[in-house]
Amino acid sequence: MIRADKWMELLPEFAEIGDPALRELALKATGAAAEKGGWTEETVELAPVTVSYSGCRCSLIEHVRKVVQTCIADYSLLSGFFARNGRPLDRDLVVCGALLHDIGKFTEFTLREGEPVHSESAALLRHPLSGAIIAAEAGLPDAVVNLIATHSFEGDRSVRTGEADFVRAVDEFVFKCSVAGLEKKG
Ligand SMILES: [Fe+2]
Repeated sequence: MIRADKWMELLPEFAEIGDPALRELALKATGAAAEKGGWTEETVELAPVTVSYSGCRCSLIEHVRKVVQTCIADYSLLSGFFARNGRPLDRDLVVCGALLHDIGKFTEFTLREGEPVHSESAALLRHPLSGAIIAAEAGLPDAVVNLIATHSFEGDRSVRTGEADFVRAVDEFVFKCSVAGLEKKG
């Protein structure tokens, strides 16, 4: 089990969630996802963001940090448009959603002989689905569960909040940057 203070060390952006109760639930869900996937304090930094690109050196933790940091920066630049148009964005929902959007990758990927690979559950429970289930089980609000479930193509025909669209767009941009120039396998 990975201690809460270790998560705060790995992902200090948890402190950016203003509501302490929401922060606690977010930490609980992250810990539950890592535990379900068998990750430990010794291995968690080896969890990959993808196994589909040759030579990708971006870890899941680094990816999530960049998504959260970009969301925070973009929120301060752009949230005024949403407020002006009568659809204000909830900052805590954006930050919490950005921190949790990929928790399902802790169960989608595993280590085999030290190398990150797809887990056995990956085909039927891609990370938006597994992550949403874990978040719901941890007691997170429906808006967070929806954001996780809809942040990839699974959400193409689903109802999405403004916050879900915001995190989804940032996530896609950050991911594309992290694999730019690399060759996709298969
Ligand atoms: Fe992501």
